[in-house]
Amino acid sequence: MPSFSNFDLAAYLADHTKKIEQTLNKALPSKRTSPSVLHEAMRHSMFAGGKRLRPVLTLAATEACGGDIESALPLGAAVECVHTFSLIHDDLPCMDDDDLRRGVPTCHVVYGEANALLAGDALVALAFELAASHPGTERHTTGAIVGELAHTSGSRWLIGGQVLDLESEGDPSGITPARLKQIHMAKTAALLTTSLRLGAMSANATPREIEALTEFGHATGLAFQVIDDILDATQSSEKLGKTAGKDEASGKATYP
Ligand code: IPE
Ligand code: IPE
Ligand code: MG
Ligand code: MG
Ligand code: MG
Repeated sequence: MPSFSNFDLAAYLADHTKKIEQTLNKALPSKRTSPSVLHEAMRHSMFAGGKRLRPVLTLAATEACGGDIESALPLGAAVECVHTFSLIHDDLPCMDDDDLRRGVPTCHVVYGEANALLAGDALVALAFELAASHPGTERHTTGAIVGELAHTSGSRWLIGGQVLDLESEGDPSGITPARLKQIHMAKTAALLTTSLRLGAMSANATPREIEALTEFGHATGLAFQVIDDILDATQSSEKLGKTAGKDEASGKATYP
């Protein structure tokens, strides 16, 4: 990791994002691979843009713990696959019912609901294929790495958080700050934290290093969702690449 005095964040992000894009491009089957419509749908959502914040954090965490980027790349790509799955399903008519994502029409608008649902499913499967390709380290086995991603993606965290989010829809005034924090922690901060932890695990990090990154992940993840909520209420759809003002219109429990 470069020193702070001459740290060029823009160059760092450009370089690391490029490596992630290349890894994802290799990992996702081509559009010509049968069934074409499914692979087109997966690629439509994956390569429409996206900040790649989570996989960049995976790479940054691995560097911070003395690991090499190459070994962590499949784990960064795995996290981005889980994230993109969660966005495709989040946008479905049965959930947030959104038409715009990453500046393009949402997966179900272009490919239909069934294909969008299945594209999301396939991205989860691909995420675990990628995580399972990691050889593990002395302190962290491949099983522990796969288990970390599974636990965070499942009913107690990401998917559970989406359930809590939907349950709270329509009655935002009835929600307590503690409940909102619980929702934000589950639907957003957990995967962001796991992005860091996986990078650390790939670097054979010590329990103390992992603990520090976990604390950082929780704080950053909560802040990230608060900002996402504020942006929804203050920015334009063009700027966001997703429909602005949607949270208030659907009575979402958000920070604002
Ligand atoms: C959007 O995440 C969903 C939230 C958890 C708020 P991002 O803002 O990271 O979306 P992309 O990946 O850049 O499209
Ligand atoms: C995103 O919450 C959480 C997940 C997708 C897991 P939002 O519903 O606020 O995300 P956006 O605003 O649609 O990106
Ligand atoms: Mg949502
Ligand atoms: Mg949404
Ligand atoms: Mg939002």
